[in-house]
Amino acid sequence: MNVANKVVIVTGSGKGIGRAIAEEYGKRKAIVIVAEIDASAGQEVEDTIRHHGGQALFIRTDVTNEDSIKQMIKKTTETYGPVDTLVNNAGITIFKPIEDCTLQDWELVMNTDLRSVFLTSKYITGIMKENGGGSIINIASNHVHATLPDTEMYAAAKSGVVGFTKSLALSLGKHGIRVNAVCPGFMDTYHYQNWLSNFDDQAFIQKEVDELHATQKMGNPQEVANVCIFLSSNLVDQMTGSCITLDGGLSTRLYHSKYA
Ligand SMILES: NC(=O)c1ccc[n+]([C@@H]2O[C@H](COP(=O)([O-])OP(=O)(O)OC[C@H]3O[C@@H](n4cnc5c(N)ncnc54)[C@H](O)[C@@H]3O)[C@@H](O)[C@H]2O)c1
Repeated sequence: MNVANKVVIVTGSGKGIGRAIAEEYGKRKAIVIVAEIDASAGQEVEDTIRHHGGQALFIRTDVTNEDSIKQMIKKTTETYGPVDTLVNNAGITIFKPIEDCTLQDWELVMNTDLRSVFLTSKYITGIMKENGGGSIINIASNHVHATLPDTEMYAAAKSGVVGFTKSLALSLGKHGIRVNAVCPGFMDTYHYQNWLSNFDDQAFIQKEVDELHATQKMGNPQEVANVCIFLSSNLVDQMTGSCITLDGGLSTRLYHSKYA
């Protein structure tokens, strides 16, 4: 799975899953563009990758802003040449009852989680075509398979990402550009640890969460990074239009019962 010297853009890579993805590409000697809105988080990831001998450049990017995306891609190609891999990872969640959701909430979730995927793809496609191919990886969610109350905006945006992925894969296959989605489930990120810290009996809640999974444990951002490396590698030239679910079997189960 050789990704050395490949130019790889990872959006939202200052924290969480995106950071794990960026650092894994860095360890494997790719040239990593940390396309992140939070300047201190983005700079820290660039510094960490460089500190470990890798190549990275933080470019402050707001994926809800078309000009910001165009500038980030322009700076990337001017500095390092054509882009080999684009990982659309940046995403937000707003979970609340539908009556409390505002149009601004809807637009923020859609613009961050879905419209951004349209815009980055639109501006990267010509570069990848000219370069003879490339790989686009969209981080969706297991909410596209099975979801929860009060998550309508997120479930809709991520389902849109998977539909978009499939159509784009068909459009770009003849140009050697592969487009795939990854659908993670519960991941042990700082968000999760924050949520867990609200409970008095954290060990009990953790056990309950773990037992939702066929594997009896929740996921780790490192595994999402491993899947991205695999998807962008030359081991899987025939893999496009796929959606890889990484949720320990959580969304495979029909229902939860102490008897099954
Ligand atoms: N954490 C999970 O359990 C989980 C599960 C399934 C899917 N996902 C998806 O994985 C992706 C990463 O999730 P995470 O939990 O690591 O999130 P996170 O909040 O920990 O990190 C998201 C990063 O994106 C950045 N970001 C936010 N808005 C941005 C914008 N407009 N432009 C550029 N960067 C922006 C943030 O600053 C942050 O660094 C998201 O798309 C999310 O929906 C996460």
